[in-house]
Amino acid sequence: MAQVKYSFAQRGVVITGGAQGIGLEIAKRFLEAGADVTIADYSEGALQSAKIELKLYPQLKTAVLDVTDRASCARLAESFTGPLHILVNNAGITRDKSFAKMTDADFDQVIQTNLTGVYNVTKALLGKFDPAAPKRIINMASVVALYGNFGQTNYAATKAGVVAMTKTWAKELARKGFTSNAIAPGFIRTKMTEAMPKEVLDGIAAKVPVGRMGETSEIANTCLFLASDEAAYINGTVISVDGGLVI
Ligand SMILES: NC(=O)c1ccc[n+]([C@@H]2O[C@H](COP(=O)([O-])OP(=O)(O)OC[C@H]3O[C@@H](n4cnc5c(N)ncnc54)[C@H](O)[C@@H]3O)[C@@H](O)[C@H]2O)c1
Repeated sequence: MAQVKYSFAQRGVVITGGAQGIGLEIAKRFLEAGADVTIADYSEGALQSAKIELKLYPQLKTAVLDVTDRASCARLAESFTGPLHILVNNAGITRDKSFAKMTDADFDQVIQTNLTGVYNVTKALLGKFDPAAPKRIINMASVVALYGNFGQTNYAATKAGVVAMTKTWAKELARKGFTSNAIAPGFIRTKMTEAMPKEVLDGIAAKVPVGRMGETSEIANTCLFLASDEAAYINGTVISVDGGLVI
């Protein structure tokens, strides 16, 4: 399929959780479009692999970042040299269990990463955005933010919180040249889902009106569009990329 060609030359992009999965694909697409990309992730092993995979791109930077740790976020901000134009808050975890079985630790860890983490990183980097250029905040939510899901009390709550923060920033920051939007992916094929048994994956695909799981590239396409000048009037929205799962 032909790809839309964007140019993000001289645009600074930070992608949290960008060392694998959806975040890595987003990083790759921004690099292809000429952006100065910083992948910030807490997995040093995954960062190393990402550096090898993306070695063609001299403008790639990596940073060890734990989004749950405010000191770590402050270090990222201190070491960030170029102006920032696009922040993709993508880092996220799951600790799925039925509500009755969910532990306080399961709940707290997911809140700290998926919700407080988005607050921590955005707060730390806010002053790094280029005052004279269009600015984008793109947050990775999930279809479960809008519809809930079995076993995901913690995760669904965080993603709904992310949607609410996204809309609030869309109101507060628009006058300073920001747009703030969220993407709500459905079931996306990543290393994690590839490890699941085929019959489970087939069962998931059967629930999706388009009859298949999504690809990381389909999330990246949406992210680049939201970051582009063409999307300047899209602010405070949540784009579902889920093959119609939530209809
Ligand atoms: N894969 C899906 O089907 C799907 C569906 C809906 C939403 N999402 C969301 O998309 C985002 C990416 O998902 P994915 O499937 O690529 O996940 P993934 O597990 O493949 O990647 C997540 C990345 O985040 C990093 N990370 C986790 N905790 C971190 C922390 N405290 N600090 C810094 N980095 C941290 C991990 O090291 C990893 O590189 C997540 O926010 C997820 O909730 C995914």
